[in-house]
Amino acid sequence: MNPTLVSSPPSPAQAARQAFAADLQRALARRPRAISPKYFYDEAGSRLFEQICELPEYYPTRTELALLRAHAPDMAAQFGPRVQLVEYGAGALRKVRLLLDALPRERVQFVPLDISGPHLLAASAALAADYPGLALQPLVADFTRPHMLPAVPPGVRRVGFFPGSSIGNFTPDEADAFLRLAARELAGGGLLIGLDLVKDPAVLHAAYNDAAGVTAAFNLNLLAHARRELGAEFPPDGFVHLAFYNPAYQRIEMHLRACRALEMQLGGERYAFDEGETLHTENSHKYTVAGFQAQAARAGFRPGRVWTDARSWFALMWLEA
Ligand code: AVI
Repeated sequence: MNPTLVSSPPSPAQAARQAFAADLQRALARRPRAISPKYFYDEAGSRLFEQICELPEYYPTRTELALLRAHAPDMAAQFGPRVQLVEYGAGALRKVRLLLDALPRERVQFVPLDISGPHLLAASAALAADYPGLALQPLVADFTRPHMLPAVPPGVRRVGFFPGSSIGNFTPDEADAFLRLAARELAGGGLLIGLDLVKDPAVLHAAYNDAAGVTAAFNLNLLAHARRELGAEFPPDGFVHLAFYNPAYQRIEMHLRACRALEMQLGGERYAFDEGETLHTENSHKYTVAGFQAQAARAGFRPGRVWTDARSWFALMWLEA
């Protein structure tokens, strides 16, 4: 008789590694080659993204923070007197503080959602220390998939917060699916969403090709992540950062471009790159106010107030669900 093999389910870290390996293998095996930008964000990648937000060329974070500082009371006035505030993809929980400062503490329950448990719990603990008495219920979940939010008692409106123009990194289908899901779960309330607007391509080009090379390091970290986590092998100087505005799709595209003909090895397979061939790593869509309002309306939202800066580079948009 054969001995029984008992296998335990993979840990979250093992499952994440398996998904990364499978997605990267799939990406390398087809042409054109493209992979989800979610694989930028290991520890090193998250740190590099924080640095990007501070760069002189990268205007979105600073512009959105200034809009929140100037208009948070006005934004909070759209929410209604009692709210369950749900932040999608919570990250460091920096921006939401400006909204919380404009809301009476006893009238708000805050539900930050993030897929990374350790980050969410650390950011929530720091928030709880700075906002004593705040009803805080962090939820570890992939907010792009069906999830259960805490019930809202009668008289409380559920309001979503999705800052940073993070929706711009979704494919158009993913963005539509997210908006439909949000319109359903926020019904009776609304969504406050941050959007990077279409502008002079030279400004966009500079924001994604910063002089200090931080965005290049962020992009190249996807390969370093694959080397560390999956044992991928490739020449260390074989790829360079490439970012450009594609006007047909109103988006910045980031790619990793092979400097010469080379091979990458992963999971016992070899993948050949011709000189100049790329792995497409990110899209960052840019919006017009009217274009996004029409997209949101198709998903079930009624467009409301819009706050934008003097140069119309970034917008925060209120959508009634
Ligand atoms: C997170 N996301 C909105 C950023 C963006 O601008 O699309 C990611 C980023 N990629 C390069 N720089 C910043």
